Amino acid sequence: MMKKAVVLTFGCQMNEHDSQRMGSLLESAGYKVVPCSTTPDMVLINTCSVRGKPEQKLSQLLSNLKKDKNQNPNMKIIVAGCVAQQKGEDLINKFPFVDVVIGPDGEEKLLEYLNQINKGVSVIDINFNNEFSYAETLVMGPSHNSHAYVTVVKGCDSFCSYCIVPYVRGRERSRIIKEIKEDVKGLVKKGFSSVTLLGQNIARFGRDNNEDFQSLLNEISQVDGLKRLSFLTSHPKDFSKKIIKCFEELPNLCPMLHLPAQHGSNKILKAMNRGYTREQYLDIIAELRSSKVWDKLSLTTDIIIGFPTENDDDFKDLMDLLERAYFDNSYSFIYSPRPKTKAVELFGDKEDKANRPLFTKRLLTYQGRQKELALEKNKRLEGVILEVLVEGFSQKDHNKLTGRTSSGKVVNFVGDKNIFPGSYVMIKIIKAHPTYLSGEVLNVKS
Ligand code: SAH
Ligand code: SF4
Ligand code: F3S
Repeated sequence: MMKKAVVLTFGCQMNEHDSQRMGSLLESAGYKVVPCSTTPDMVLINTCSVRGKPEQKLSQLLSNLKKDKNQNPNMKIIVAGCVAQQKGEDLINKFPFVDVVIGPDGEEKLLEYLNQINKGVSVIDINFNNEFSYAETLVMGPSHNSHAYVTVVKGCDSFCSYCIVPYVRGRERSRIIKEIKEDVKGLVKKGFSSVTLLGQNIARFGRDNNEDFQSLLNEISQVDGLKRLSFLTSHPKDFSKKIIKCFEELPNLCPMLHLPAQHGSNKILKAMNRGYTREQYLDIIAELRSSKVWDKLSLTTDIIIGFPTENDDDFKDLMDLLERAYFDNSYSFIYSPRPKTKAVELFGDKEDKANRPLFTKRLLTYQGRQKELALEKNKRLEGVILEVLVEGFSQKDHNKLTGRTSSGKVVNFVGDKNIFPGSYVMIKIIKAHPTYLSGEVLNVKS
């Protein structure tokens, strides 16, 4: 019988992508990757340390796995990703039954490490690695939904004062365009018609190789058979008008932009070391509004509430930015102090428990208004016919299928037997909701 591996993923798209790559490495080593199992032969946890919560979840999860490992000592446990990088040896000291601890750059050697643990040796690899290996392009299994991620820049050099990512993902390193293009061609050949390029601050792509992001977009968009090209994430400080031009000129570049504002108060933005003012942020929005892409564009953002020294006036500025920017969606969280960061050096590593109720109230106020604005924006799509890339069954309603428009909006609809994950269908939008759209199938395209 084939050995079963469960891969659990926390964190961002980069981790999702890394998990897919590790999943395919495990499959090449004879494991079957399954969504869940009561008796797995391997559990791989790909961890995130961007906030305290996911880190705490890891501890709970490992405590539970300890019991399973007592019953089944042959079960292997791998902790990968950003918490692995951050904690290294401490993790094995605290949870000695863990077999492998690997940071994001060590994941490429997974097969080598499997051999070692089969010999009974535990492994810790938290070295940073400047090379991009072949594994970058591996994507899990034959059953996919036509969408793939491709990392184009590793690491981050932006050092926002609250953020642990530069410490757990290392220095910024770009791949070269020629290789990325070969990868994307290979993916298209395998049936992936939609590709998202990944980098923590992707507009800085190429600085270390004398290449640039606009050229990357131009080159990749030319790959034959690539229907959808998108990218994540754009830092406002490095965003340039040339990117707007790409949106206007490249037909397969999806009209979606994730442009994390983090806050709307100049005082807080400065303390966060974001490198732009609210005015500069709103200038980008104004440029987008006056461009040809605006009508189709889905604009999303990340927000941190409760950064140290945030007062009522700062929060008012944030709410004002929300009104002016008109986001389709916001990912908003309360600030969480992270080890090694400048903010912890300046303001300490304790959560501001006394002000927690105030921050929660601000968060709910922000999210409530965001929801209203998102619904208002989505209502403009009612009656419109859009092409949707089918992903699978809807989580909300298992009788329905779900997919995404080219702008990244989720659409739920009743399918039929001709419609399968990975196909494109034309859908008439019937009803708008704040975070998704409901629609009806018009005809099957491919
Ligand atoms: N590179 C991306 C963000 C990666 S982290 C960018 O710059 O946009 C994803 C999001 O987590 C960030 O945008 C930020 O909103 C949030 N985040 C990061 N550190 C945080 C912290 N210490 N507390 C709360 N949220 C945080
Ligand atoms: Fe973190 Fe800032 Fe880098 Fe994004 S750009 S990963 S928020 S340091
Ligand atoms: Fe989390 Fe690491 Fe991504 S800290 S957000 S998984 S880069």
